[in-house]
Amino acid sequence: MSEEVINAARAILIDNDRGGYTVPTKGLYPFQWNWDSCLSALGFGHFDEARAWAEIQTLFDHQWEDGMVPHIVFHEEDDGYFPGPSVWQTGRPVPTTGITQPAVAGFAVRRLYERAQDKALAEEHARSLLPKVAAWHDWFYRCRDPEGSGLVAIIHPWESGRDNSVDWDAALERVPTVGVMSFERRDILHANPAHRPTNAQYDRYVWLVQHFRSLGWDNSRLHDASPFRVVDPGFNAILIRACDDLGWLADKLGDKDIAERSHAQAARGITALETLWNDEFGQYLCYDRAVGVPVESPSIGGLLPAFAAIPDHRAAALARTIDKLGQKAKYLIPSHDPETAVYDGARYWRGPAWLIVNYMIADGLARAGEEATVERIVNDSLLLIEESGFAEYYDPITGEPCGGGRFTWTAAMVIEFLTRER
Ligand code: DGY
Repeated sequence: MSEEVINAARAILIDNDRGGYTVPTKGLYPFQWNWDSCLSALGFGHFDEARAWAEIQTLFDHQWEDGMVPHIVFHEEDDGYFPGPSVWQTGRPVPTTGITQPAVAGFAVRRLYERAQDKALAEEHARSLLPKVAAWHDWFYRCRDPEGSGLVAIIHPWESGRDNSVDWDAALERVPTVGVMSFERRDILHANPAHRPTNAQYDRYVWLVQHFRSLGWDNSRLHDASPFRVVDPGFNAILIRACDDLGWLADKLGDKDIAERSHAQAARGITALETLWNDEFGQYLCYDRAVGVPVESPSIGGLLPAFAAIPDHRAAALARTIDKLGQKAKYLIPSHDPETAVYDGARYWRGPAWLIVNYMIADGLARAGEEATVERIVNDSLLLIEESGFAEYYDPITGEPCGGGRFTWTAAMVIEFLTRER
């Protein structure tokens, strides 16, 4: 059985390969997405290491001079997606967006390096990527944490990867829509509109893009100039884990400077993350930096810190919260608590389960020795695949496949899970 599933997953990776980069899925997402690519590279790593490294190298070929790695690289023209390059107008030789995405690259590079069969190839790529990933991390702390709190803010919901999470509702309300261009959404031509963000949310997403564009995409200004500035514990945890992993890699490769800097960034991040812990919710909460208040929203962003080296008692508390979610949903892990009024089991990040998040949380909980919870997460993930195929995300109560189909990173995560099982 697992051999068959692995072969099906590989076929999806190969099918979505555009030569040097993969699209997340045909139609809905026709370009290279940042965190999709880094997690998808792990899947390629099981059968084509050169191709896995190429995926990450291609992404970093489009890193900005200031260190930012953009969230989308528009390798080819495709008017099946909105907003395309003519809206972003970032002035790059190969067009990119002007915002970023969760920093999983440092984690992915370490994992590929550690598991490599071709050690020489891994060494070559790790050496070339090390300073680039470090520059991205430095960019984060310089441009998205200008006051040096140890935690970075996102300035657009798309940066979090959790576009329409309940976590952003209040902050998005404050984003104006006056002067927003008229536009035609393309996502709802490819996916069920009931699985996607609303038009009201899109107006605000686009307003923010126009606003940043009017500031010339100058990252030294965007953070303070954005009406949307939220500290997401999940986003920070991914960055902290990546700093830790990059520090490990720099130690191996003998780069003392990057090693020291990365370990210090991770340590400061872990200390600062503690300020986002909430006992009542049994998880971390977002913090709305623009107005200085915590966001009391039980979403998966507050469970993702399991991925970073948080104290064991915090990891244990997160595992208990996830166990409770397991009584409310058939398939772990819902991206929002199903017992809240705003929960929507099919709508993108307002309830559905995502295999990439399952993977990162399971990875962190395994390190903390929470094996029973890990087993449940992995089993549920594999059940979803068996019953509903390689979807973008799934209703965690009915198991309905949602969003795009034949999804690259879902396939990659399945290969990871099944390989771990063995
Ligand atoms: C989309 O277009 O839905 C993406 O999530 C933005 O990155």
